[in-house]
Amino acid sequence: MRATDIIIKKRDHGELTQEEINFFVQGFVKGEIPDYQVSAWAMAVLLNGMTPQETTDLTLAMVSSGRILDLTGVVDIAVDKHSSGGVGDKTTFVVLPVVAACGLPVGKMSGRGLGFSGGTLDKLESIPGYRINLNTDEFKQQLKEKGIVLTGQSLDLAPADGKLYALRDVTGTVPSIPLIASSIMSKKIAAGANAIVLDVKVGRGAFMETLESARELSDLMIKIGELAGRKTICLLSDMNQPLGHAVGNTLEVLEAIDTLKGGGPADFREHCLHVSAHMLVIGRRAKDLDEGRRMAERVVADGSAFEKFRVLVQAQSGDVSYLDDPSKFPPAKFIEVVNAPRSGWLSQVDARSVGEASVSLGAGRAKKSDPVDHAVGFIIHHKVGDRVEKGEPLFTIYADDRAKQEEARGRVLAAHVFSEVAVPPLPLFYD
Ligand code: URA
Repeated sequence: MRATDIIIKKRDHGELTQEEINFFVQGFVKGEIPDYQVSAWAMAVLLNGMTPQETTDLTLAMVSSGRILDLTGVVDIAVDKHSSGGVGDKTTFVVLPVVAACGLPVGKMSGRGLGFSGGTLDKLESIPGYRINLNTDEFKQQLKEKGIVLTGQSLDLAPADGKLYALRDVTGTVPSIPLIASSIMSKKIAAGANAIVLDVKVGRGAFMETLESARELSDLMIKIGELAGRKTICLLSDMNQPLGHAVGNTLEVLEAIDTLKGGGPADFREHCLHVSAHMLVIGRRAKDLDEGRRMAERVVADGSAFEKFRVLVQAQSGDVSYLDDPSKFPPAKFIEVVNAPRSGWLSQVDARSVGEASVSLGAGRAKKSDPVDHAVGFIIHHKVGDRVEKGEPLFTIYADDRAKQEEARGRVLAAHVFSEVAVPPLPLFYD
């Protein structure tokens, strides 16, 4: 078998066999198939798609590329969550401590930024000292002792996904339903989840721009979950505008801290409570969503969710003094408030443009090896449907470079579209 033939077969719309997929994935992980061939293959998959059978085979090949974490005896039920990626999506920082504070232990392995969408790991590294590279023994021990873990994908779990994810980020091959489904599900299966809540984002700032494609991705992931014996539910949530106000690594951590302390933007708080309620139900801690929601609200109100976040950061060697005094996070060099150029109702705050502008400021990567700048990003002050008066603050730019700041100003101004007539707010969830 030759990698070239497999690329050509996919280029010519062929259906790959399980043997071909296994050969390709194993060759990639062993370093026998180079990045350039895998990039060409990924582009052929993006353009020509894969059948559900090929996607399932790809998922299982990626799972078999490494170990599978066995959490039996560590937790009674291993519940995991994953977002398909969006702009301003810092949900994990709130949902994990909330459900853990409600008595549902949760351990999660997260990824880095992908394309215009931010990554939990990059955001976590804003907290000085925080270790994102726990090994699987440390993962299990912390989950048992503290009931909460948030780390990077262990190198020995689904290593094929880790390598492919980094390649896709810089080769324009992210928005492919089979590649996203297999990436997400291989990680979740390898990390030992028995029950999985997937937050599938839909809209301009998501990889799935239409409800139809988001449903297709969800159906595929639910099917893969069933085949692998994992209970999987998908929530379809809006990603036409950024979630919450903050976009950028440190800024998002700050917004999550605020939300855990009972503040935070209404849309973000509501989103987190809803995802938490689903996790509490699927994790058998709440009998229904109403009860799950009440439990989640309670642990935010009584401070135990924030306390759980402190426990997490401390357990992973992060400096908790930054959580207690968020003014310690180093600010960006240049902070500029940009005012509304006119009055009206906001009909669009284009999440994709904001995400791309944030990457250009340095919050994400253009090349695999690029470092990220934690301090840069935006606070987007308004949501779709808001009435805004000329001259009031529209967004704030946090930049470390004047030229990038100039460019970002234009892009994010253009992302805001005004209407003469009232516009309804966007829903948080579609299904
Ligand atoms: N999240 C993932 O883990 N993988 C993808 O491909 C997209 C979003």
